[in-house]
Amino acid sequence: MCGIVGYVGPNSTIDVLLGGLKRLEYRGYDSAGIAVLTDEGHLGTRKRAGKLGILADDLDEAPLPDGHTGIGHTRWATHGGPTDGNAHPHLGDDGKLALIHNGIIENFAELKQELVDAGASFTSETDTEVAALMVGDVYKKTGDLTTAMQRVVARLEGAFTLLVMHQDVPGVVVGARRNSPLVIGLGDGENFLGSDVAAFVEHTKRAMEIGQDEIVTIRPGSVEVTDFAGNPVPTREFEVAWDATAAEKGGWPSFMKKEISEEPEAVGKTLLGRVHEGAVTLPELDDLTGALTDIDRVVILGCGTAAYAGMLGKYAIETWARIPVDVELSHEFRYRDPVLSERTLVVSVSQSGETMDTLMAVKYAKENGARTLSICNTQGSTIPRESDAVLYTHAGPEVAVASTKAFVAQVTALYLLGLHLAAVRGTLDAAQVAAQLEELQNIPAKLDQVLESTASRIAEFTPWLGDTQSVLFLGRHVGYPVALEGALKLKEVAYIHAEGFAAGELKHGPIALIEPGQIVIVLVPSPRHENTLHPKVVSNIQEIRARGARVIAIAELGDKAVAPFADEVIRIPYAGPLFEPLLGVVPLHIFAMELATAKGLDVDQPRNLAKSVTVE
Ligand code: G6P
Repeated sequence: MCGIVGYVGPNSTIDVLLGGLKRLEYRGYDSAGIAVLTDEGHLGTRKRAGKLGILADDLDEAPLPDGHTGIGHTRWATHGGPTDGNAHPHLGDDGKLALIHNGIIENFAELKQELVDAGASFTSETDTEVAALMVGDVYKKTGDLTTAMQRVVARLEGAFTLLVMHQDVPGVVVGARRNSPLVIGLGDGENFLGSDVAAFVEHTKRAMEIGQDEIVTIRPGSVEVTDFAGNPVPTREFEVAWDATAAEKGGWPSFMKKEISEEPEAVGKTLLGRVHEGAVTLPELDDLTGALTDIDRVVILGCGTAAYAGMLGKYAIETWARIPVDVELSHEFRYRDPVLSERTLVVSVSQSGETMDTLMAVKYAKENGARTLSICNTQGSTIPRESDAVLYTHAGPEVAVASTKAFVAQVTALYLLGLHLAAVRGTLDAAQVAAQLEELQNIPAKLDQVLESTASRIAEFTPWLGDTQSVLFLGRHVGYPVALEGALKLKEVAYIHAEGFAAGELKHGPIALIEPGQIVIVLVPSPRHENTLHPKVVSNIQEIRARGARVIAIAELGDKAVAPFADEVIRIPYAGPLFEPLLGVVPLHIFAMELATAKGLDVDQPRNLAKSVTVE
């Protein structure tokens, strides 16, 4: 939530800031703003409500003098509506200092009162302006921006990343973070700060992590990192694993469409190097080795799409490794006094690695003695840093706010974990593990087939659904999490009321919603699966058809039983019971995207949402 970029160096600061903000816009798009210090010592700011394009047009019409020190911000509003006045940067020290912020300063009201009592006046309704005025006041007394930042963060409560610059100190940007993201980009004679590496990957792939409660001061030729008390701290450099073009549209009409098309690759890359001669190789988990044989329970945490991937992880881990698995929404977990011990493995699932609800749940689990493993798609992010071990998904940068390719990559990583657990705990023998891995390795090719056969078909029939007000999704067993994911995607991007139900639950209530014309999308398990779910789901279809529902079935290619009862059948290739969701989910992603597109909506930046939710 909120994207942050900082730059010191010889190049056009405005270009660097706008380029960085463009790549961070997925974090929020209520307003955007920049501050730039010219070589003549003039601090210029420009900020506009609305998406970044509005700010960029404004700068085209009335250019701001360029310089070599700057900060930029794209906002997801928390305190104060999305107006020009509430947009960042905010100013302190009589307009000589500019500050941007991501997060929430929880004690801002009390601090604001102190400032008001001392005679300060405010121009915005934000919590951020408090920090700008406070850093300005301390800078006036100390003449040192890093010291000013240290003194102020010591008084702030909540979660925040702050970047600050001052017109008296050209070539310096100071940043601080607590429970909110910030990464350093290391250039040659230039340095960068960003909410994530996307902010600067166009300029450098060398990056450095900053820990919690740390302060960084960047100059063109140096980077200093200290704790909040000013003591130097060890740093860790890493190389960004993807390049700038991976985070560009590359001719696709939307990031969402591009990212759906990358779902086969996301699975393939997450498997790459992790399967050898029919066995799972996960050196990332070496630190947990003893723990993995010792654990008696797994708890999977996540929000939104990541939680649904976690539900599929439960089915797989319980089937293969015979360990009880609970799946819980991160934000519910720590407030209900969960039972944890050193024999509990808490697996967090997060594309961004920054979701505050999940981060706080992981910290809580650690504090209460559990072992923690993060499944994450973003290098240098906070949740992996806070966990005992990390298994990265390699879906590549996901820019569209609604998660698609990250979902299949998360499921793949959870399945690898499940098979690894089964191997180390001896619940599956080598041949059984190899057989499951073979199924998993066949998924990318089958996904290619799904994309090829379904994309245009779904696009064709979505127009007749264009004015629909409500869609229900039904699935059973592993189809249930997929139904939930299909409904979430439709809500997120097409703003259509949608609910996912376990098909068996239908008769216990939801069937009352069925009236003539109600659209129901049903995930039908293959008749070739040994479980007996296929005829039950087909019966469910008949029950809702009898009450006037219009049914779109997602069914296996060879399934002859479904067509007579469905208005449309989307065909997917055969996959074993646990693997079918990886195929069935793709038509649902396409469906949501096509329906939103037919309604003329921006599928990449849906209203009210942000991709990385860094507030609780
Ligand atoms: C937000 C996004 C969802 C995403 C969820 C979890 O709500 O809008 O698309 O699934 O956060 O994000 P994470 O980065 O933790 O996977």
